[in-house]
Amino acid sequence: MITGYRHFVTLADSIQWDETAIDYTADRAAWPRLTETERTRVLGLLAGFCIAEFAVAGQLDAYRAAALDDSMEACFRAQARDEARHARFFDLVAADVAGVPGDTPAQRLDVLRDRAAPELVDLLEVRLPETARRLADDRQDLTSAVGLYHMVIEGVVLLAGQHAMLATLDGLSVALPGMHKGVELVLRDERWHIGFGSRIVQSADICPTEADAMLEQAETAAKVWGDLLTEDAIETAMRQHRRRLKAAGIKFW
Ligand SMILES: [Fe+2]
Ligand SMILES: [Fe+2]
Repeated sequence: MITGYRHFVTLADSIQWDETAIDYTADRAAWPRLTETERTRVLGLLAGFCIAEFAVAGQLDAYRAAALDDSMEACFRAQARDEARHARFFDLVAADVAGVPGDTPAQRLDVLRDRAAPELVDLLEVRLPETARRLADDRQDLTSAVGLYHMVIEGVVLLAGQHAMLATLDGLSVALPGMHKGVELVLRDERWHIGFGSRIVQSADICPTEADAMLEQAETAAKVWGDLLTEDAIETAMRQHRRRLKAAGIKFW
């Protein structure tokens, strides 16, 4: 079977970046000058990303082990490298720009967890690891595991959050250019992750139950940001999700 995943690895190799090469000097100077409302909003989104990127970065081994061929396995490996960088980037911004206290990423994560909705924490720190564990036990379940990770968490939750973060940064009274740059680069990486996941779903035989699950999970997941995301942003994310599933050959309406 020609699965053609290799081009995602080539793409990933060509767009590598280094979170420590971004200049955060202006961000550090701007942070204290933001209004309280602005800081609260940026910190709320940042908390979600720190939790999400640490969580997803830790789960890809089960996906790699369940890969159907070498090219798919290489993609999961390239993706794990990206997710680890995303986790480092958001932690760096939390520590160096936003001044989140803690000596280690885990300690800062504990502080930030209080700012995230319990639904977001549950999705990323309970349901995703459970899915990865089931995948590790039974490698047959790859499609629904990719459905949760790539289509729902990355395609709906993280993509909508990244758009909300960029819109928030664009509207601040003082610019945070380093953070803006990094979020744009994260978004660029996530696009190929979602494209890769869509390709896996497209290549699989999806039963109606799996298709319904991908839609239902997304509807719940789209709300985990609480009031950090507008109704419009949630609707847009869901519309794109349905379009992506449809493009992957899934029909349920
Ligand atoms: Fe990521
Ligand atoms: Fe990703």
